[in-house]
Amino acid sequence: MCGIIGYTGHRPGVPVVVEGLRRLEYRGYDSAGVAFGLKGGLEVIRAKGKLAALEEKLAHEPVTLATTAMGHTRWATHGEPAERNAHPHRSNDGRLAIVHNGIIENFQEIKADLLGKGYVFHSETDTEVLVNLIAECRKSQPDLLKAFAAALRQAHGAYAVCLMDRDDPDTLLAARMSAPLIFGIGTGEHFVASDIPAFLPYTRQVIFLEDGDIVRCTAGDYAIMRLEDLAPVRHPVQTITWDMQAAQKGGYRHFMLKEIFEQPRVITDGLSGRVQDGKVCLPELDGLPVPERLHIVACGTSYHSGLWGRHLLENWAHIPVQVEIASEFRYRESLLLGKGDMVLVISQSGETADTLAALRIAREKGVPVLGLCNVVGSSIAREASAVILTQAGPEISVASTKAMCSQMLMLALMALYWGQRNDGDAAERARCLSLLESLPVLLGEALPAMHERARELSRKYAQARNFFYLGRGHCFPLALEGALKLKELSYIHAEGYAAGEMKHGPIALIDPAFPSLVLALDDELYPKVVSNMVEVKARQGKVIALCNTGREPDADDIWRIPALPSPLAGFMALPALQLFSYEMADYLGKDVDQPRNLAKSVTVE
Ligand code: M6R
Repeated sequence: MCGIIGYTGHRPGVPVVVEGLRRLEYRGYDSAGVAFGLKGGLEVIRAKGKLAALEEKLAHEPVTLATTAMGHTRWATHGEPAERNAHPHRSNDGRLAIVHNGIIENFQEIKADLLGKGYVFHSETDTEVLVNLIAECRKSQPDLLKAFAAALRQAHGAYAVCLMDRDDPDTLLAARMSAPLIFGIGTGEHFVASDIPAFLPYTRQVIFLEDGDIVRCTAGDYAIMRLEDLAPVRHPVQTITWDMQAAQKGGYRHFMLKEIFEQPRVITDGLSGRVQDGKVCLPELDGLPVPERLHIVACGTSYHSGLWGRHLLENWAHIPVQVEIASEFRYRESLLLGKGDMVLVISQSGETADTLAALRIAREKGVPVLGLCNVVGSSIAREASAVILTQAGPEISVASTKAMCSQMLMLALMALYWGQRNDGDAAERARCLSLLESLPVLLGEALPAMHERARELSRKYAQARNFFYLGRGHCFPLALEGALKLKELSYIHAEGYAAGEMKHGPIALIDPAFPSLVLALDDELYPKVVSNMVEVKARQGKVIALCNTGREPDADDIWRIPALPSPLAGFMALPALQLFSYEMADYLGKDVDQPRNLAKSVTVE
């Protein structure tokens, strides 16, 4: 959940690290800190709050002489957001400093042992325990690399760590276990970071480190070894093809807005090379049998994509589908039968701890796992039996938008592909494919007016403290997603509900101050949704109806969007819901790209 970066090279290291932290801030922003060697010492500067607070402190420090540095941006797990809990953490002897993303699960036992040996702790973090464990191991093993490995072998849990030594301040040691860490190779300089944009301005040559890897690097040299026995390992050097443009705001006020407006391009890129002669090409799936039962497992927005995809997979491919939240799936004795079953894990980041755990459980049971991920080289992308990359490009805003669009597209293609292998209706498939191909233009044309209407409605409803999002069929998962977007961005309580369930309890909440946004699209369930809406209106509930031109119900506010045949209409409704939440949050003065208490990549359970 945190972001780490280490740099060693020929440039002033602290500015490189701070700039990298800015591009990692989406991973957490409770505090930030840097470490660098200066005049034979190891300086650590930390500040509570966003990076700007750290920059303010650094402005008064002589940092430019150090050409090796490391930094951290935190999403608090152990210990409240406070300077004493900010990274880097030092060992008691002052020789070592460490930055850490992840959780050391057995830190209490290790801490008790170290307390018994006279160590003192200034924070509540597991990280301070780890750095002191390394210091303790060093007492019997003076070679720091060996002491580092020995300590990590005792630590259980997840980590991506970077370590600096006061006595050798131009060397970085780093390691990963169940938390992302990428190694960047420049000319006369090296980087380690939680994500590629942190160092992309300097190099495109990267190695995706694997669990159990340890790295030692200086400006001119590097070695990657196995944690187990320090034997050398070789991983391919890969070239990143996307550029910084993709990870910058490009003139938009926020990353979120840019990412919403990128969705037509995301669809174009996702379709590229996937359709030939009226057939869907998903070579990633050619070697796998068509599943007899599919279990979709994911969290948050990715879970909502899975719920939406179920409609298509069942209707078009005739595959029975279950969809489950990863944090529930992993602790339930699920009936994965092996033969004929397949698990599909969906994750933008490819690092979500619960989703990754679900993947591992399924693999242990011998069930093939298909990954649907956005981040190339992520843990899920590497550990799945097969992976389909959503190709949405970097998603920086903490609230997921274009990633969901790309997941929906790939789920639609998967449903068509498996339908094709199950001898499904070729004419229906051709019709859907041609609709999908027309989507980028239709959506691109619709977005400006949609944005304008979202702005108007957000102003009108900005006083609401509660919201219902109602939908049925393929619109129900979109209602869940609309509500999630509103609450995470605006801190307005919102509930997504199946419209037909309202009368079983929730309708009791309805009053004139509790509005509902109803997805009343022109599909087979339209008359049913309208009946549910009338029931809400009869209780003085205000209703915004998201509907299609030509089929408009009686509502307090009508929001017309272009019609598309069900269920592909979801591609038009999704950005409308995203824009409403975006405008609401911006109008209310909330931090759109970095909502409070959240982080982009949830690598803790
Ligand atoms: O990276 P993942 O898709 O696995 O992330 C899952 C959720 O953490 C994520 O969708 C989260 O709910 C977002 N904040 C939604 O905007």
